[in-house]
Amino acid sequence: MTNFQPRWSFDLENLGTNTFKSQGLNCTYPNEHITQIEFNIMKQRILTGIRPTGKLHLGHYVGALENWIRLQEEYDCFFLIADYQALGDHIDEMENIKIAVRDVVLDWLSVGLDPEKSTFLVQSYVPEHAELALLLSMLTPLGMLDRNPTLKSERERLSNTSLSVGFYTYPVSQIADILLPKAHLVPVGEDQLPHIEMTREIARRFNNRYGEVFPEPDSLVGRVARLMGTDGQAKMSKSIGNVIYLSDDSDTVKKKIMSMYTDPTRLRATDPGHVEGNPVFQYHDAFNDDLEEVNDLKERYVQGTVGDVEVKQKLISAVNQFLDPIRDLRDKYEHDIDYVNDCIENGSAKARVTAQNTMKEVRERMGLSYSVNT
Ligand code: TRP
Repeated sequence: MTNFQPRWSFDLENLGTNTFKSQGLNCTYPNEHITQIEFNIMKQRILTGIRPTGKLHLGHYVGALENWIRLQEEYDCFFLIADYQALGDHIDEMENIKIAVRDVVLDWLSVGLDPEKSTFLVQSYVPEHAELALLLSMLTPLGMLDRNPTLKSERERLSNTSLSVGFYTYPVSQIADILLPKAHLVPVGEDQLPHIEMTREIARRFNNRYGEVFPEPDSLVGRVARLMGTDGQAKMSKSIGNVIYLSDDSDTVKKKIMSMYTDPTRLRATDPGHVEGNPVFQYHDAFNDDLEEVNDLKERYVQGTVGDVEVKQKLISAVNQFLDPIRDLRDKYEHDIDYVNDCIENGSAKARVTAQNTMKEVRERMGLSYSVNT
């Protein structure tokens, strides 16, 4: 993980002639195929993504999305909907994946990700993802997958089902996702860090063997690495149902927060309570902008002079205030499904050009060319 700084690099891929000439620059490149290259000072790249398995929730927002929104101003961002990856453990749920793809795009647009600034793509619309994943799998020792702690805990969770090879090797497919556009930075939730670490290792292996092709990407985790579930469990998770979705209406938010877990040791409002480890206060810290109010509630909670109901009511207002503009945008885009479709069609087509350039380079470097000179 690193402290991010907006950084700049030269990109020599796909450059139009005009930019260069208009800047009065001219350069001869010592390669017979390229007589002139044009330098374009370009933003560094981000690739990050999500599996389409459901709607996005508050945990996604503070763990990752919030960073993506900010970073799209400074980086050339690729936002990926990882449908291949979802198939690894949801092969019989194509209908749900279809719904989830639409939901994810709507969630992204609603929180302010902007397909005019960034590229939205679907993994399977850019089949070069599969080709690079296959080639990188040859450079990935099995032991590296076995040691990956995120994969390990997922395998344990799914141990009573028959795991597909595709699931077992999904970190390799994720590495291909990141390397295909040669990303420099991957803003993700905390659980994804082992995959980014593997990406760095595989990029290094590739570069050592075939020459510098891929940057070793950095990772960046969000402001709240892990937002607790409404039931006090360590993490919000759709399968447990302890989740507040970005698309929940205000009544649903009210119901969910009113039944939220608080401090189990506190039986009456006059008992001194605990703020640490109490999800209601973690959510206040994450979503209530009124710091004075939050501090006042915390003080009174510890003293036993405020009831759970008041703390929760104030949280309901804060969360609904946070979600209102997101709801407005969602309403707009729900009525413009053509636009939603265009985002992923056009974005994927654009990403494919980049992907094809990388694959051409990868094939050449690896020597996958068998015509014999006579
Ligand atoms: N594994 C990520 C998730 O579960 C999704 C993902 C796929 C991803 N490819 C990626 C994340 C590349 C970051 C970079 O949500």
